[in-house]
Amino acid sequence: MPSISLFQIISIFAPLFLIYPLFMSDQSNFKRYTVTSALPYANGPIHIGHLAGVYVPADIYVRYLRSKGEDVLFIGGSDEHGVPITIRARKEGLASQQVVDKYHEMIKKSFEELGISFDVYSRTSAPIHHETASAFFRKLYEQGEFIEKYSDQYFDEEAKHFLADRYITGTCPKCGFEKAYGDQCESCGSSLSPTELINPKSALSGNTPVLKETKHWFLPLDKHEGWLREWILESHKDDWKTNVYGQCKSWLDGGLQPRAVTRDLDWGVKVPVEGAEDKVLYVWFDAPIGYISASREWSLKTGKDWEPYWKSADSKLVHFIGKDNIVFHCIIFPAMLKAEGTYILPDNVPANEFLNLENDKISTSRNWAVWLHEYLEELPGKQDVLRYVLAANAPETKDNDFTWKDFQLKNNSELLAIFGNFVNRTMVLTHKYFEGKVPAVGEMDDYDKQVIAEIGRYPGSIALSIENYRFREALGELMNLARLGNKYLTDTEPWKNFPANPARVATNLNIALQICANLTVLCEPFLPFTATKLANMLNIKQFKWGEAGNANLLAAGHLLNAPALLFEKIEDTVIEAQVKKLLDTKKANEASQWKPMPQKPTITFDDFTKLDLRIGTIVAAEKVAKADKLLRLTVDTGLDSRTVVSGIAAHYSAEDIIGRKVTILINLAPRSLKGIESQGMILMAENSEGKLCFVEPSEPFGSGSEIR
Ligand code: 2FM
Ligand code: ZN
Repeated sequence: MPSISLFQIISIFAPLFLIYPLFMSDQSNFKRYTVTSALPYANGPIHIGHLAGVYVPADIYVRYLRSKGEDVLFIGGSDEHGVPITIRARKEGLASQQVVDKYHEMIKKSFEELGISFDVYSRTSAPIHHETASAFFRKLYEQGEFIEKYSDQYFDEEAKHFLADRYITGTCPKCGFEKAYGDQCESCGSSLSPTELINPKSALSGNTPVLKETKHWFLPLDKHEGWLREWILESHKDDWKTNVYGQCKSWLDGGLQPRAVTRDLDWGVKVPVEGAEDKVLYVWFDAPIGYISASREWSLKTGKDWEPYWKSADSKLVHFIGKDNIVFHCIIFPAMLKAEGTYILPDNVPANEFLNLENDKISTSRNWAVWLHEYLEELPGKQDVLRYVLAANAPETKDNDFTWKDFQLKNNSELLAIFGNFVNRTMVLTHKYFEGKVPAVGEMDDYDKQVIAEIGRYPGSIALSIENYRFREALGELMNLARLGNKYLTDTEPWKNFPANPARVATNLNIALQICANLTVLCEPFLPFTATKLANMLNIKQFKWGEAGNANLLAAGHLLNAPALLFEKIEDTVIEAQVKKLLDTKKANEASQWKPMPQKPTITFDDFTKLDLRIGTIVAAEKVAKADKLLRLTVDTGLDSRTVVSGIAAHYSAEDIIGRKVTILINLAPRSLKGIESQGMILMAENSEGKLCFVEPSEPFGSGSEIR
């Protein structure tokens, strides 16, 4: 009898360790969960950066909580106010409302199709939001929580409009870039204020704006600094992510200033006080209130009370956001909630860093993104593959990169080769040997017992990672369970023991099937479509999280459905098509950036008349040996037939250009190229992509015609 290892001891007692997550997390203290995900601006579609940063992690968290039987309200919605919307509207020649209508529907639909399981997906142009945000502002106003200040702001006298920072462009005082915005220079990245711009211009009329006095309402963040410091820097030192904590600390250490919460704009929630006609709430004041409006909308639809989710100390509020939203969710919105007085504060704000695409920053304006609605159309039925790849690559601690090659690899070598392969082998063997019925377990050996004990470890370890917002780690653990199953089948080789030892095969397949049933439960937060398929295959209802972790989920004799493939191989052609799409985008971007060469210094008429330019005809052409770029041409110039060596081999093949009319400079001093004397030069035009083409006569003029 071999000696028992520490691993085996731990494995045997693993079910006992299952209680450890209760000690390690505070989940059990809360009665309900209010989970928000940043409201995306309805000025464009959703891309993989949004998904990896916010929505996939939030959805995993929420699905896990629901599986545990927790009471959760998962909130989403479109952010439909602010300058990003009005700028898009100007660009598309639409009204702001038309822009948000278009993108709200598109975003909502694509989230649904990816299985992002919001309890409510609302929008900030909805009347219930205007009413909620307006009442919130009024309450703070009446409680004396604002200060009023007059300041000078740029005004466009022709458009009769104060100008939002983004509507003013000018020269960056830091780097000299001529198209910097009033709030930021996109060339050097500096934060700016509009009055710092050199030579400011209004984006509305192109005129130079003038400074004009205007009144605004400010939230005195400085007044809140004391409790914010204590709440974040002391109470959340250990449980908030270091990137979040670090950003908050540097804001707090820099000292908080009063922040304007109103704007001179005509798109947004009207400021509900006298003397504020033509003013709206600052978008970052109204957007987070959108979470509350959405909860009220949900309440009206379901008849459930929304208030405990926001006002009860036994509710846990969690905001899922990207790193550019940290200050708003950790400092400004909490200050608003505190000033209002009846709300709870977020327990955690698990912000992610950014996802890049093929080593380049995702950018809506440069169309450098994988758009969700296009993905769903071009790779139908592959929602879980995207969810998997994005969760596995989630930029949890640093920026991360998405590449199509890695997408293919993760599908083919992980989802398909490990998870799919294990389930498929188990199902097929059970159908082959036991007519699709779960065989009964017979006598178990040490290895069987060890594997069963291992199963018991997974619900706890995955839960612990999820509860600490470490979704990549959680997903890694899920795949370890599939790996365990795969290895168990490979080690026990049931196909070799049948028909000699049917009892052994029955035990092995029973245990393998129990792992499949456990995978169904534990994969659901990450791969909900797969979970449904797998549950159908196993012919079971979806179990709760707490029911997993054992080998008793499937009773002996239970009839399974037919095996079906969980994942398909992704072929190179699919990936190549996606890569080509990105390359085309890159080319289009380069072309749109292209500027013709500046003019050369002036020459005299005499200089020009020195050039002897003629129409010529190519009568022979061949590649120059050992020179990729060169063709040796024989050109009929009307005067003679001569040799010209031309660097056009990358653009034309020799056999295609015989007979072509060209423009040739015939009095250029001869020179030797690769040992061939070139007696003239063929003129070529070059476009934005660096492509060359001949300059041909527009009428059929003969060789020797002069060009003057
Ligand atoms: O950064 C953004 O895309 C914002 N629309 C997020 C708003 S989050 C919340 F406050 F609504
Ligand atoms: Zn600059």
